[in-house]
Amino acid sequence: MLKETLLHATESGAMILKEYFGGRFEISSKDTLNNLVTEVDKKSEQAIIDSIRRNYPDHFILSEEAGEIPTASEYKWIIDPIDGTVNYAHGIPICAVSIGLEKDGEMILGAVFNPFSEELFFAQKGFGASLNDKRIQVSPLQSMERALLVTGFPYSWQNAENDPVKTFERFVRRGIPVRRLGSAALDLCWVACGRFDGFWEFNLQAWDSAAGMLVVREAGGSVTDFGGNPYSPYQKELLASNGKIHNQMLEALREN
Ligand code: IPD
Ligand code: CA
Ligand code: CA
Repeated sequence: MLKETLLHATESGAMILKEYFGGRFEISSKDTLNNLVTEVDKKSEQAIIDSIRRNYPDHFILSEEAGEIPTASEYKWIIDPIDGTVNYAHGIPICAVSIGLEKDGEMILGAVFNPFSEELFFAQKGFGASLNDKRIQVSPLQSMERALLVTGFPYSWQNAENDPVKTFERFVRRGIPVRRLGSAALDLCWVACGRFDGFWEFNLQAWDSAAGMLVVREAGGSVTDFGGNPYSPYQKELLASNGKIHNQMLEALREN
């Protein structure tokens, strides 16, 4: 029932993304000019929350636009109604609905669905990860020098040290290809299915990473902070990889 609810909620949000994609909708800025929220984020979020609430009216919800809807339940749904809003607002079909479910502080289910590529990534703790129902695994690559990496940049880094750009530059100067898709949830899932070998980002929120981190771990990969400690979605800094190049990436990140 939890899995069915998760998949139904993910699908409900995704239908809204499809309905409005490429059309007209309201767009506004959040804390910084280019941190956008659209009418579609809010509609998708509402559809997701309604769908969860129908089966589990007393579960805790943490959702990007609505914030915390706290209850005493041991279950917490962590929702990103559109991960990749800037892409979505510009008509770029690289975005997803991302929902993770925690029980007693442990992530037990995660789903990330890009309705434009029709790719549904799913993971259940202890039962592996899948892409459209086919089992997925991280890449077998052993050397970071041959890796394809991905990262993301915060909306604004004006008042802090320029670490994200310096780190990006370091990898690029070493001749290592680094992509920037614009959806952390998809970045994680693309590590899980072996398209990318590693992903790092400096300033994530719980809803960006909740589902994707479980997908990576269940696909055999590693997800830590920049100190190599197991990552929790309430941390800002995340490094995900196929596991084999993890230490090499940690070293490279520490060169800051
Ligand atoms: C953003 C995306 C992006 C990442 C940002 C996130 P949003 O989420 O995941 O890839 O670089 O840090 O905030 O705002 O599109 O939900
Ligand atoms: Ca997000
Ligand atoms: Ca979002």
